[in-house]
Amino acid sequence: MIKKFFDWLKQPLGLIAVGIVFLAVFSAAAYGIYTTQQAPEQPVPGFPHKTHISFGIQCLYCHPGASKGPAAGLPSQAKCWACHNQIVKTRDSALLAPLKDAVLSGQSLEWVPVAIVPDFVQFNHRAHIAAGRNCEECHGDMTQQLVAQNPQVMNMGWCLNCHVEAAGEDQAKLVKLADCGTCHY
Ligand code: HEC
Ligand code: HEC
Ligand code: HEC
Ligand code: HEC
Ligand code: HEC
Repeated sequence: MIKKFFDWLKQPLGLIAVGIVFLAVFSAAAYGIYTTQQAPEQPVPGFPHKTHISFGIQCLYCHPGASKGPAAGLPSQAKCWACHNQIVKTRDSALLAPLKDAVLSGQSLEWVPVAIVPDFVQFNHRAHIAAGRNCEECHGDMTQQLVAQNPQVMNMGWCLNCHVEAAGEDQAKLVKLADCGTCHY
């Protein structure tokens, strides 16, 4: 399988591609490590994934786009409030003050993205969920996270590694999944 991939790469077009790919991967790596591997300050500083997931709330309840299209999406404050104006126990929690303020003032919470690829990359959640991939494979174990962090650098090498592995012996699939036009168009 790996050999076939290298045979493909040895074609003239493949060689050019290899050059570009190496430049791409290396130049982007340093920047990627810097930007992705730290938890940013969020509008609700203590939004705990851990707590919500432990109450049995599904990922797709808050991120329904992941099974339907390119973007997973983030929940609106109306969705948060539908639960939180009912939960008396934490209604006056200091951690919820920013949510309450946003709801009362009608201003939306501006979450800072954590998992992100540049605009010229076409990532699509649906294709991956349809292929049976778990959120965890790419986003790490969110049941242990408070403020969301990115477990890995989401660069081209990362995408391609998994695509080569996913294609296995299937040559047609490999060509498709490693084709520049699959992710850049
Ligand atoms: C499906 C119901 C549900 C939704 C939707 C929901 N939450 Fe929660 N949230 C909970 C539950 C249950 C707890 C734990 C409450 C407890 O410990 O009594 C919690 C806890 C919290 C806490 C911790 C409070 C504390 O004092 O420890 C914060 C902060 C919070 N939620 C923010 C949010 C935000 C922001 C949203 C929207 C993005 C949201 N929640 C959406 C049910 C929900
Ligand atoms: C109660 C709603 C809720 C549930 C349930 C939930 N999330 Fe989230 N998720 C959020 C909110 C709000 C944010 C934005 C705040 C942040 O980044 O911490 C977020 C952010 C994220 C991010 C980072 C997104 C970005 O902007 O880059 C990932 C990845 C993620 N969630 C994955 C998951 C996975 C996987 C699960 C299930 C194991 C899950 N979430 C369950 C509400 C939820
Ligand atoms: C094959 C890897 C992969 C899988 C599987 C995956 N994601 Fe993602 N996710 C990404 C990448 C890459 C991004 C950045 C996308 C971008 O910037 O366009 C992302 C972004 C996100 C975001 C940020 C906001 C948005 O709208 O995209 C959330 C939330 C998220 N993923 C949740 C999930 C959930 C929930 C699941 C499981 C149902 C999941 N992801 C499965 C790779 C993955
Ligand atoms: C953990 C493994 C994994 C990672 C990481 C991954 N992918 Fe994928 N990707 C897959 C699988 C599996 C498929 C579906 C292959 C099939 O059709 O059976 C897929 C399919 C796709 C498709 C759809 C191809 C089509 O059928 O049209 C695109 C586009 C794509 N991936 C882009 C990306 C990008 C961009 C990244 C990195 C940001 C990425 N993928 C990271 C496993 C992965
Ligand atoms: C599976 C998806 C995928 C495929 C296939 C793919 N790329 Fe990329 N490419 C990416 C991602 C993701 C990035 C963003 C890298 C980052 O931020 O570190 C990227 C970045 C780039 C960049 C910009 C580098 C930079 O430093 O910003 C170039 C140029 C590029 N790719 C060229 C190509 C060429 C040529 C091919 C075909 C041989 C190709 N890509 C195939 C996912 C892909």
